[in-house]
Amino acid sequence: MLSRRDFLSTASAAVAFVALPKAASAATTSVTLTPAPAAIPVVPGQPETNLWAYNGSLPGPLLRVKQHDRLQVALRNGLQQDTTIHWHGIRLPNAMDGVPGLTQKPVQPGAQFNYDFTCQDAGTFWYHPHAGNPEQVGRGLYGLLIVDEPNPPAVDRDVAWVLSDLRLDKAAQVTADFNHPMDVSHAGRLGNTALMNGRLAQPFAVNAGERIRLRLVNTANARIFDLRFSGHAPWLVALDGHPLDAPLHLGPQDRVAIGPGMRADLIVDMTGDAAARYTVFDRDAQGREHRLTDLAYADTAAKASPVRPIPGLAANPVREADLKTAERLPLVLGGGMGVPYALQVDGGPVLDMRQAFQQHRMAWSLNGQAQSHSGKDHADHVGHSPLFRLKRGKSYVFEVSNDTSWPHPLHLHGHVFRVLTQPGRPWRDTVLLQPQEKAQLALVADNPGHWMLHCHILEHQAAGMMATVSVS
Ligand code: C2O
Ligand code: CU
Repeated sequence: MLSRRDFLSTASAAVAFVALPKAASAATTSVTLTPAPAAIPVVPGQPETNLWAYNGSLPGPLLRVKQHDRLQVALRNGLQQDTTIHWHGIRLPNAMDGVPGLTQKPVQPGAQFNYDFTCQDAGTFWYHPHAGNPEQVGRGLYGLLIVDEPNPPAVDRDVAWVLSDLRLDKAAQVTADFNHPMDVSHAGRLGNTALMNGRLAQPFAVNAGERIRLRLVNTANARIFDLRFSGHAPWLVALDGHPLDAPLHLGPQDRVAIGPGMRADLIVDMTGDAAARYTVFDRDAQGREHRLTDLAYADTAAKASPVRPIPGLAANPVREADLKTAERLPLVLGGGMGVPYALQVDGGPVLDMRQAFQQHRMAWSLNGQAQSHSGKDHADHVGHSPLFRLKRGKSYVFEVSNDTSWPHPLHLHGHVFRVLTQPGRPWRDTVLLQPQEKAQLALVADNPGHWMLHCHILEHQAAGMMATVSVS
């Protein structure tokens, strides 16, 4: 017999069923991902590079589903160490978030874990391990997850550039100097070989007159890509998977900055001349421009390219924060070379920078706290309580200030926030803060569970710029 309470929950489930026909008719995609060692031809004319890769490919297999579809992924660990998969930017139930010790047990060598979730937001996302990240991502474990809109904008081609880098020696092998103190306390592990879709960048063939949706994804450990499309005027239509309220027209001198973890969707009209080449420049931290690739036009003369209106993308179902009632939460990024600092490791005594590094290999902090483990498995240790406890359904504004001499792409799991301090107030899951920059991030804490908040420069994360946020 149904109790009144059972009856009510059944009744409301039925209402939800009626209200969400798309969810009810959603398809399910099932795949197996096996991270394991693989030899891959990354640099032409050089020996194959020994990497760690999903299903033997770099980047890993492209996962592509429709919005509201269900994705089931069997992770089979073919590495000699624990791993997990985190679905970067996907707003999903906490148990599927892939953080070892916090949302699941680490997946041991030879073991399997089944991820199963619905993709409620359309856009450009990606996946990567959340265990031993500096080495696992740095050796090639990452892949793209595209969630298609029910009615995608009309383009001639939909293309992704997965941008990353590797630190290679003369024999094209990955150097083993992970978590080197120089990298940890400075800019992170920067590679010496930039990659586009897992290979040394080659010219990118285009046809005059075509319209391309270009999905840019930065999966590097630490490298910030800062791109400029010479001779072209792309439209920026989405950041971190989420459409801008109004697409932004970029001039040939404008740049798209994409820090580790971040994505940008462009719509680019190929308005150049047949047989011409136009360089896509990347700019490094010293302000120098380098060629990332060329847009290489086919010889065929341009079709008269019609002036086409820029298609808008439908917004994802994200709740707007109530800025009037939002609670303000200060969040200070600290540490690193350049300014003296003090921090506490896992809630222990206050240490100066030398002690923190020598005793714990910690160099970065959030609100003066350096966290050395992701998980509540360590909750018994003093200080492994969440940095923030948020009330479910309530609005918050993080008042972030980067008090360091280094840029940081700050990433929150399970939620997206509006960056109130950036033009167009974009939705993002990762925000790039320049040295001494401040930002305001507004969100509704609507996804219950324990969530990571960390710098996506993976060496910074591993050296303390990491915290947990609980929502209940
Ligand atoms: Cu893309 Cu916590 O990660
Ligand atoms: Cu950082």
